[in-house]
Amino acid sequence: MKTSLIQKYNVPGPRYTSYPTVPYWEEATFSDEKWIESVRKSFIQSNSAEGISLYIHLPFCESLCTFCGCFKRITKNHAVEDPYIKAVLKEWRLYLELFDEKPVIKEIHLGGGTPTFFSSNNLQDLINGIFAFSTKHPECEMSFEGHPNNTTRKHLQILFDIGFRRVSFGVQSYSETVQKAINRIQPFENVAKVTYLAREIGYTSISHDLIYGLPFQTLEDIYDTIEKTKSLFPDRLAFYSYAHVPWIKGNGQRGFKDEDVPKDEQKRQMYEEGKRKLDESGYLEIGMDHFAVPEDSMAIAFQNGNLHRNFMGYSASKTQLMIGLGVSAISDSWFGFGQNAKSFEDYYQILEWNQIPINKGHILTEEDLIVRKHILNIMCNFHTTWNSDTTYFDGISTIIQQLKEFEQDGLLEFIIDGIQVTEKGKAFVRNICMAFDMRLQRKAPERQLFSMTV
Ligand SMILES: C[S@@+](CC[C@H](N)C(=O)[O-])C[C@H]1O[C@@H](n2cnc3c(N)ncnc32)[C@H](O)[C@@H]1O
Ligand code: SF4
Repeated sequence: MKTSLIQKYNVPGPRYTSYPTVPYWEEATFSDEKWIESVRKSFIQSNSAEGISLYIHLPFCESLCTFCGCFKRITKNHAVEDPYIKAVLKEWRLYLELFDEKPVIKEIHLGGGTPTFFSSNNLQDLINGIFAFSTKHPECEMSFEGHPNNTTRKHLQILFDIGFRRVSFGVQSYSETVQKAINRIQPFENVAKVTYLAREIGYTSISHDLIYGLPFQTLEDIYDTIEKTKSLFPDRLAFYSYAHVPWIKGNGQRGFKDEDVPKDEQKRQMYEEGKRKLDESGYLEIGMDHFAVPEDSMAIAFQNGNLHRNFMGYSASKTQLMIGLGVSAISDSWFGFGQNAKSFEDYYQILEWNQIPINKGHILTEEDLIVRKHILNIMCNFHTTWNSDTTYFDGISTIIQQLKEFEQDGLLEFIIDGIQVTEKGKAFVRNICMAFDMRLQRKAPERQLFSMTV
């Protein structure tokens, strides 16, 4: 790939787990009442037809990985588990009061932080508490993020017994130099052990998270990490671009200097080579950063055009309503977004007052709904069409101007009333979505908010 293309398109850009992106939410016109109204409306429209999804944020980790961009609190004190589980269940009960019928749970994802920081008994109590007042959809998909260093056989067995069939393990990189720099010593044997255990117990989808562009990472490390990963046959792989956002994470991203982080062509080569190796090994690229074996439900959903994207990342089964529980968790009612308080003190305090602890959000406008549709289409299917939208979508002519430049650079092709991202363009999918992002177009950020697109 030509250097100039990378230089041209390596700009700060959103990862589009939502549209509008969080910094562009209109907080001034948002209120708790509007949020509750949008959740009720979405619930009535969708609960009996498709069910709802739950994302539960479990924010504690025993030690800090210095590359991490997630919301977490570092502690070795496990006394935090019990009050936290109780708070999450209280939050769930406050949502239940909004509904006239029992929620049908179609999907539950435990994310973090580190869900496996919690004891398996506490996780069991949490899930039992959720299901005590709701119905489990016959095809309910239950998944959790496991840290290979602290996921035990008991975690895997108990979670399996209560219905979990999917697990993703954070691997990142097998290079010792990189592991030292990111303060995450995690030998291959640990990952192999939990992967074999999960398979033996009966998990049907095992995923590994890898990252390219970490400090001191080299191309040899990418080859080696992918070779080792292949030997464990995960069904899915996330191959994330390292998001270097020290201005957000403060001194959380430390232990290395900016110049230790691979950039531009060097980083893009890691992606290209990683993708080539994964392709050779039989993994299909599905959406941005994700790969799966062809028989995996995510790969099938991608091929059938049913892939969906939300704050949890990609999902094979879309529900209109996704409720996020726990400190900092984000909910998506389809008509709006809401984020819970990010401070533990506020989160606990607002629950004490018997209120849902949302502290900011956004209600989508007509235009937002259309733009989101295109961004979701591009992120999930690598194409979109706009014929019926042009009448009430003022921005389309400006967007087409910008898309022509991508076409000249070979990143997309125009189809009838729409675009198709080319193979070369897949690496620039965030840039292509930015052309549709009307809020970003109208007001460029005054300071850097997003990670670089390469
Ligand atoms: C919440 S963490 C994983 C669960 C568990 N805490 C662990 O570390 O194994 C989810 C994933 O986000 C990814 N991630 C976190 N920070 C990132 C960053 N700055 N850039 C890219 N990916 C990141 C990592 O691949 C990580 O495995
Ligand atoms: S990568 Fe996982 S274990 Fe490490 S700090 Fe982030 S959430 Fe915690």
